Amino acid sequence: MTEKTLIIVKPDGVQRHYVGEIISRFEKKGFKLVAAKFMRIPEETARKHYAVHEGKPFFEGVVKYISSSPSMVMVFQADGVIDMARKMMGATFGFTAEPGTIRGDFSCSKGYNLIHGSDSPESADFEIPIYFTPEELADYELSDEKWLYGKND
Ligand code: RTP
Ligand code: MG
Repeated sequence: MTEKTLIIVKPDGVQRHYVGEIISRFEKKGFKLVAAKFMRIPEETARKHYAVHEGKPFFEGVVKYISSSPSMVMVFQADGVIDMARKMMGATFGFTAEPGTIRGDFSCSKGYNLIHGSDSPESADFEIPIYFTPEELADYELSDEKWLYGKND
């Protein structure tokens, strides 16, 4: 039973040339890339994605931010990928995120935070179909899965 997570390199991540660095961190960790789409997220899509925050003071701001310029939208797969990716992303904003995390290493903004990652299996199940049809999620094996995901038994 492998888990999937929605990862988005947000507009500031694209503008600041961090697409490759961020994909590279997840690739090197061993997550399997199963879908990717480079797109300017429509405002209505951003509203749907962040609907859980509707009514909060930052809601309009985050919708405007996410739809302001192209993003790199991806799905990664691995057992436990949701929590692992959230740990690798760090706390919501770079000014408090730990060094060693993506946000902690590359951002100190209080409004822009480079990356989105699903925060639970329920969120991933809600978010992934907003961006991808089932046919767009690749089902394949990596040749080194034994070494990436195996146990030493
Ligand atoms: P994300 O959903 O994007 O992965 O981020 P997160 O879980 O770390 O943070 P969340 O609380 O879900 O907030 C969603 C996004 O809204 C923007 N935000 N702005 N100005 C503010 O106080 C504020 N708070 C949140 C951020 O872009 C955050 O990633
Ligand atoms: Mg969130």
